Amino acid sequence: MSTQHAIVVQGRGHAALKVRVPVPAMPEDSVLIRSLPTLTMGFVHGCNAMHPGVRAFAEYVIARGDLQMRLPDFMGFEAGATLGVGLATVGQNLYHNATATGTLAIQLAKLSGLRVITTCSGTNRRFMHELGADLICGAAISSDGGKYSSLLYVPCTRRDVDAHVSMAYDLLGERYRLGASEVAEDPASLKFGIEWAARVEPLPQDRRIIPHPFQVKPGGLGGVLDGLQLLREGQVRASKLVYRVDATE
Ligand SMILES: NC(=O)c1ccc[n+]([C@@H]2O[C@H](COP(=O)([O-])OP(=O)(O)OC[C@H]3O[C@@H](n4cnc5c(N)ncnc54)[C@H](OP(=O)(O)O)[C@@H]3O)[C@@H](O)[C@H]2O)c1
Repeated sequence: MSTQHAIVVQGRGHAALKVRVPVPAMPEDSVLIRSLPTLTMGFVHGCNAMHPGVRAFAEYVIARGDLQMRLPDFMGFEAGATLGVGLATVGQNLYHNATATGTLAIQLAKLSGLRVITTCSGTNRRFMHELGADLICGAAISSDGGKYSSLLYVPCTRRDVDAHVSMAYDLLGERYRLGASEVAEDPASLKFGIEWAARVEPLPQDRRIIPHPFQVKPGGLGGVLDGLQLLREGQVRASKLVYRVDATE
């Protein structure tokens, strides 16, 4: 087991499935996960330019051990694969709408005793109510101002709104590149990520959190590239795309 199939970034905006990619050396505090099938769930950086060789879409994935969660005993691998980045991101923010992250955020906010005001398209209103949303509207910020946390940069012109963008990568506690910027490792975020993983792990097991709807797509690792294109084209609504590594051609 010294080489594997993996998706490798070839250059800016271009990735490809390669067949003889070295399995990277393992740093301390990490576990080597054979991604078919595994009893853990979590997330790793998809392609951190500052740590080439460590990647998400491969047969063998290096992940920080203390950020991983046990897969609930009743849950399939495909469902477990959808939970990692969403639960981590919701730990950083309470996000809104029918995104894969938002459906987990609504459930966690309700478990925390909060009143949830959210936004989504008409087709997803019923789904949002079923998850526990109290009010669904076009815009969810009070006329008195408030805090706005987003997962992508959103310019905000209101002075009474404290706007903030979060990055789940911060929780991995390692340096990474974001566009032209380099982001330093943040030990406080890593500490939070480890505590959060331990705290949130029981919720799927106790069925207090259900995964976002998902569809298993064909093509294994090679299919991931087609899925990214579907996402770019905005063709995926209220669903996660899952690819089985053992279906790689
Ligand atoms: N910063 C971070 O750490 C972080 C972490 C996770 C994800 N992300 C990013 O956050 C975004 C959401 O990710 P996700 O996986 O949670 O989402 P997702 O499941 O891919 O989101 C799909 C939903 O977004 C809504 N949507 C799509 N286009 C829209 C538009 N133009 N205006 C309003 N709503 C629109 C649609 O809701 P309706 O069907 O109801 O219209 C759609 O169902 C992605 O760009 C992702 O890369 C960032």
